[in-house]
Amino acid sequence: MQGRSRIQDLRERRELPRLLPLQQEDVRPRSGFRFFSRRYAKCSISLLLILCALVLLAQLYSPEAIEHLYGDMRVYAPTEHSKLPSLFVKYSEDEQRTSKENLLRWKEQGLQERYLRLPARRQRSGWGPFMQELILNTYLANRIDRIFVLDNFTWHEDGWMDYVDHRQGQYSMPVQIPVSAVIRAVTPAGVDPQMIRAVGKDLWDEACPRGRMVHGLEAPPVVGRHLQASMPLKEDVSDSRSQCLELYEFPSTSNDMGSTLLDIWPTLSNSSILTHFGWSPLVELAFDMNRELIAPVTDLEPYLSSLPFTNSSDRYRPIPGLLSLHVPRGIYQDYCRGLAPGSQGFTGFNAFPSFPDVFDPAKLAHLGEAARTAVYHRRCYPIIQEIVRRVDIVRHTEAGKGLRDVYIMTNAPTPWVLELKTALRRMGGWASVSSTRDLVLSREQRYVKQAVEMLVAQRAQVFIGNGFSTMSGQVGMLRVANGLLVESTRHW
Ligand SMILES: *[C@@H]1O[C@H](CO)[C@@H](O)[C@H](O)[C@H]1NC(C)=O
Ligand SMILES: *[C@@H]1O[C@H](CO)[C@@H](O)[C@H](O)[C@H]1NC(C)=O
Ligand SMILES: *[C@@H]1O[C@H](CO)[C@@H](O)[C@H](O)[C@H]1NC(C)=O
Repeated sequence: MQGRSRIQDLRERRELPRLLPLQQEDVRPRSGFRFFSRRYAKCSISLLLILCALVLLAQLYSPEAIEHLYGDMRVYAPTEHSKLPSLFVKYSEDEQRTSKENLLRWKEQGLQERYLRLPARRQRSGWGPFMQELILNTYLANRIDRIFVLDNFTWHEDGWMDYVDHRQGQYSMPVQIPVSAVIRAVTPAGVDPQMIRAVGKDLWDEACPRGRMVHGLEAPPVVGRHLQASMPLKEDVSDSRSQCLELYEFPSTSNDMGSTLLDIWPTLSNSSILTHFGWSPLVELAFDMNRELIAPVTDLEPYLSSLPFTNSSDRYRPIPGLLSLHVPRGIYQDYCRGLAPGSQGFTGFNAFPSFPDVFDPAKLAHLGEAARTAVYHRRCYPIIQEIVRRVDIVRHTEAGKGLRDVYIMTNAPTPWVLELKTALRRMGGWASVSSTRDLVLSREQRYVKQAVEMLVAQRAQVFIGNGFSTMSGQVGMLRVANGLLVESTRHW
């Protein structure tokens, strides 16, 4: 009351002439009607916008609209038949087309059009033994200057792969895969340096309806210990008059005592087969996709698949800090058990005498049955504690300095892999621990994942392999061929 009378007083004295009009202005907006109308307007505009957005979204995502935009929906839904694997048809077609083009180029260059075919063995074999045969066979073709005829990689059960049997009807998988989907076997001649002169088998069928067959066992007595190495020395086989030469029932090499392969090492390692060995774009793409998972990079580096091919040692440089472990399980349980009675040594290229962890069965001769079995078990089928112990030893060697990432190549069941990963993490000092089970792979890459892992292992700063696995042997071979220190290739 007092305040009001004071204002009245002031007004009367005309001391505050503008005060009242101002007050009135201030009050007016708070009048009920105007306040409500603003809020109402805001609300209705928002509602209208939301409605519009909803209508628009419904329009965009209606099946009719998608069909209208993209035509046949199936093209964009490859998972519709997710159970059916890729048959690699495009790769086969590309292999054939490139083979044809290369033949023309070689003719222009005046190279001899003579073929060598060694039918792939049809027994159960995984990628490791298949690749070993392939390397040796292409080596033979190279030495007698013949075009190598590529068969598809036809796979069967192996300790490595997630094998799926057709006959059980549960799943299906491609029975054959063109070799060029795994390695750089058929690349355009004259573009990149070539690993080998090779063509797909379909071309052989055209060019050589009646090839000259030579039975492997009828081949003349061999000089030296290794058939593929010594074959070129025999006139009978390197006979230049027969355009098409096929060797069948050729003795297999995968079960040989390792040292026999080493006889050919000096020439093999210098041949283009190893100096220009490369993995297929499909495999390299899978590597790029999983690069961060395998060993996180500190500096940005170009994607492998984006680089032009130069040579093997340039392309597959070591990845610093990466430790790769090869721990095959599955059928290896039985396989490893069967090694002790036969006093089996390391297979294939695992037996390089310069590798640090040589294995000499003769030294076990004085041991009892049980002790020998235990040694084989530890070296072929190590348990988690043994793996951790070995990794710890390797970490403290000169070659193992600065290791910070672990990648485990394995076909073991996921729970076991998790246990192993936990045990490794508990050691401390690792920035990342990952395994085969973590890989992100496309529908086709699933079937070439062993090759992806070989690429990883080949580039690891240190690799610990299984001395009785041809696949580990191939990895060791590629590492030595690319000039990595032998001390960096270890075995269990
Ligand atoms: C290789 O496999 C493909 C399917 O992936 C097939 O079309 C092709 O005929 C096969 N080639 C040979 C030589 O068996
Ligand atoms: C083969 O390679 C070795 C190194 O691995 C080298 O010392 C030798 O000179 C090479 N031989 C030929 C014939 O190129
Ligand atoms: C591989 O390629 C690189 C780059 O082109 C070159 O510097 C190196 O000498 C090559 N190495 C061999 C063994 O050819």
